[in-house]
Amino acid sequence: MKRSLLAVLLMIMMVVSLAGCSSTEAPATEVPEVEALYTAGTYDGEGEGHGGTFKVSVTVDELAITAIDVVENPESEFAQDAVNSLVEAAIAQNSGTIDAVSGASETSAGVIGAISNALAKAYVNGAPATEATTETETAALEDVTTDVVIVGAGGAGLSAAISAADAGMNVLVLEKMPMVGGNTNYATGGLNAAVTAQQAEKGIEDSVELFVADTMKGGKELNNPALVQVLAENSADTVAWLTEMGADLTDIGRLGGASLNRAHRPTGGAPVGNHLVQTLKAAAESRESVSIATNNKVVAILTEDGAVTGVTVETAEGTYNVYAKAVILASGGFGNNQEIIVQYQPSLEGFGTTNQPGATGDAVVLVAPLNVSMIDMEYIQTHPTVVPEKNKMITEAVRGNGAILVNRNGERFINEITTRDVVSAAELEQEGKTSFLVFDQGVRESLSAIEKYINAGLVTEAATVEDLAAALGVDTATLATTIETYNGYVADGVDPDFDRPDMPRDLATAPYYYVEVGPAVHHTMGGIEINTTTEVINQDGNVIAGLFAAGEVTGGVHGANRLGGNALSDITTFGRIAGESAAAFATAK
Ligand code: FUM
Repeated sequence: MKRSLLAVLLMIMMVVSLAGCSSTEAPATEVPEVEALYTAGTYDGEGEGHGGTFKVSVTVDELAITAIDVVENPESEFAQDAVNSLVEAAIAQNSGTIDAVSGASETSAGVIGAISNALAKAYVNGAPATEATTETETAALEDVTTDVVIVGAGGAGLSAAISAADAGMNVLVLEKMPMVGGNTNYATGGLNAAVTAQQAEKGIEDSVELFVADTMKGGKELNNPALVQVLAENSADTVAWLTEMGADLTDIGRLGGASLNRAHRPTGGAPVGNHLVQTLKAAAESRESVSIATNNKVVAILTEDGAVTGVTVETAEGTYNVYAKAVILASGGFGNNQEIIVQYQPSLEGFGTTNQPGATGDAVVLVAPLNVSMIDMEYIQTHPTVVPEKNKMITEAVRGNGAILVNRNGERFINEITTRDVVSAAELEQEGKTSFLVFDQGVRESLSAIEKYINAGLVTEAATVEDLAAALGVDTATLATTIETYNGYVADGVDPDFDRPDMPRDLATAPYYYVEVGPAVHHTMGGIEINTTTEVINQDGNVIAGLFAAGEVTGGVHGANRLGGNALSDITTFGRIAGESAAAFATAK
């Protein structure tokens, strides 16, 4: 158990002052002076996090940290809860030697490093020994019993929680991170669905068959066709289900590999992921039979006679078991676990990742004792428009809405809206292995998600094509020809150079904008094998009783390459089905 230095000092002061109270003779002056720990003031510190350098200002009085201001936070907004909890812990424990947030080791290292760096300048007699801060609490906590326990509170887990609750179950959702949402928080471009009311409103004539065909083609026909059929057939119902819960999915754009516009997102092209997380979270929390516990990490799956009966959970206070009639695994992929990535795809060594810190593939270890069939693990997708070093994904929707990619010769080199594997491979063939995402004011105004990139300082603006060429360091005449030629193709509706099938607007409205982008790990297509009702399959081809899985933790839906927009479709549709299936299993038990 941790004991902060401040607490120890306060205890000494209380003991001494209580002793003083008990003796009428003891003069107050006998209370010893507590030596100052810090020189009062404000101190700056820096530490390296996942996406860059954290800068903090730590204010102290003589005995305690009184405030910590995070001046620069290089991580996405997703990591904000982890940062907040580290800051709170440092203030509460009056120390920079605090525990990392589980699943956010790099962010934690940055924040803890920055605070420790600042405090090192503040200590009067140097940093105190850290002996009491490294102990791990292993107390046995009280066990819990429920109907359905869900591992992971991302989009799949929250969807499953809602549908299981609506089927009459008591549901406990366990999330190892300090916040809900997982990678879903990062999703931006859209949720693919076919034959929706929203498409009908816009006159888009889609079909389940076309959605299936696009998904299978994008996956190099290695997808499980039965799962793809379920994905496509249920997608419109899923959009209606989410809409009923308050989601705004009225804007529809196109993402790579789609034959037409089916990526649903909020009005104006706002980011869809966090919007869905907030919608699902509110819906889950509004159901009395759902409990969500963050900072609760599942470390083992319990079984009895081959059937799954619950999970073991680790928290800062200790461990406990949850006994349940059914367990749903919705803990996401391994896109932020270099070790597993390189094990299955050595060519991706050293690549950045768009994934949240908790996407560490915990399920790979959890299911290992259960003889679970793991499929397609070698298929790991890179997203082609990620800002190097910063690992910030620029949504594919920017290209979908009209942006082009140019290389260091100022020339286009690929159909920008083909599948991610193809665009990424083409980028890696260019000089510098990155390219420039170029767009104009018209594209900016068509997609409000772009504003967050501008606000984050990721986008460079140029008043004219000439200024853009100068900023990119490319030949002005070449870049001008590239843009003029592209605009001509937009007018003709045909791209003879790269066969781009959809060019929604020309690039003729100044100012112009660019972002340097390259590929980074984005999605892990492989994982736990499931059937169409999300039951988990073992290596003998049999169902494991009581165990269900949904979302990126599974394999088979996306084959060798996922289409943009199909992750949100996957997690919400199969999450919903997992909740229903687990409820049916639990009811029959
Ligand atoms: O580019 C994007 O907005 C990503 C979408 C996705 O991975 O589905």
